[in-house]
Amino acid sequence: MNDTAGHLEPFGVDIDLLTGAMKDPDSYKCTVASTMIPYYADTEAIKRLVETQDDPVHYEVFEKDVPEAEGHIRICISKLLPGKVGEEFFMTKGHYHTVLETAETYLCIAGEGFLLMKTTDGRCLWEPFRPGRLVYCPSSWAHRSINTGPAPLVSLCHYPANAGHNYGDIVKEGFPKRCFDRSGTPVFQ
Ligand SMILES: [Fe+2]
Repeated sequence: MNDTAGHLEPFGVDIDLLTGAMKDPDSYKCTVASTMIPYYADTEAIKRLVETQDDPVHYEVFEKDVPEAEGHIRICISKLLPGKVGEEFFMTKGHYHTVLETAETYLCIAGEGFLLMKTTDGRCLWEPFRPGRLVYCPSSWAHRSINTGPAPLVSLCHYPANAGHNYGDIVKEGFPKRCFDRSGTPVFQ
């Protein structure tokens, strides 16, 4: 991918726009349910899920590798499986970018749900995901995907390659809102 001077050469990536599958990703990260125990309201329910389903996959991230330096753009597919922990819909851990002044776009390819976002001073907003909807997450907003549908929620994301991920503050702070299934309707509370 690099030429002799260390510069990135142009490349393409095939993405199935029905399923979101990325062909030949350079990196793959799998998050299993046991690592999600601190994140859900119902700790016993997530522990039960881990034990009874043999610590299943919760979400996967497929990426193309580019240098983690200013000026480059990282391309990733995020795939969050459907399900609930108690009445709380499956979600990703969520993160701030280490470099706060970096935004991100999420283009929903498949499934339905929300991108939940918050600022350090307590603002919390969410944008719906449905196939074909692009959500813009501005710089400084922490973000987490939530799957409220019966199928995997798949998004194509782009963000500055130097952004970095800060998960630690979310473990400490959480988000001001959670998304629950209340008689078949997603409700934030
Ligand atoms: Fe991000």
